[in-house]
Amino acid sequence: MGKDVIIACDFASKEATLEFLDKFTDVKPFVKIGMELFYAEGPQIVREIKARGHKIFLDLKLHDIPNTVKKSMAVLSRLDVDMTNLHAAGTVSMMQAALEGLTRPDGTRPLLIAVTQLTSTDQERMENDLLIKEPIDKVVMHYANNAKIAGLDGVVCSPLESEKVHTTCGKEFLTVTPGVRFADGDKGDQKRVMTPAEAKKIGSDYIVVGRPITAAKDPVAAYKRCCDEFIG
Ligand code: C5P
Repeated sequence: MGKDVIIACDFASKEATLEFLDKFTDVKPFVKIGMELFYAEGPQIVREIKARGHKIFLDLKLHDIPNTVKKSMAVLSRLDVDMTNLHAAGTVSMMQAALEGLTRPDGTRPLLIAVTQLTSTDQERMENDLLIKEPIDKVVMHYANNAKIAGLDGVVCSPLESEKVHTTCGKEFLTVTPGVRFADGDKGDQKRVMTPAEAKKIGSDYIVVGRPITAAKDPVAAYKRCCDEFIG
């Protein structure tokens, strides 16, 4: 499983997304499509980007009863995405059902990645709103381990957690990490960040990079710089 840079295509419309992707002529980056674009444009946007030769991480974070998630995953698998995700909070049986739904008749399937605790949830909110009293890093590792038990391929986590996830769940268990910034770049609203080179050093398998590439003066150069630092 190769290391790769995934560009977060956080655009509101198909036009803006395709205009951005048109800049990439000699390389076809792995791209992440999130809820905003998917809900605005529907599954056709996935087919269109796929037809242009990109790999796709469809970031829809499913969380429902196992039967519903299983049937929804079967739909996503037919869309031929390369990676998708769900909330580990949906329980081990929901994750197992998701894997079943995602697996195509020929046995192949997209990678399935779990979200543990969202980075917008801190200890205080977890305790007060969710009544989870354990330390948040213990909860994150427990959810990661549940994802592994269910047979998933990895988790979305902060680059700072990559090492611990690999220690807890094994080197083969994938870590997909957002919160990446160039050393000389703007942090934006991300608080705990790492450079692509640091993410490589601590063993992230995939980095998800949005604004450092999408808002760069020269997005193709920024993407290539990211790849040079992360993949080498
Ligand atoms: O622009 P930026 O590089 O901050 O984009 C990071 C991407 O990763 C966004 O699509 C954001 O929603 C996503 N993400 C994140 N932190 C998480 C989970 C996902 O930044 N914990």
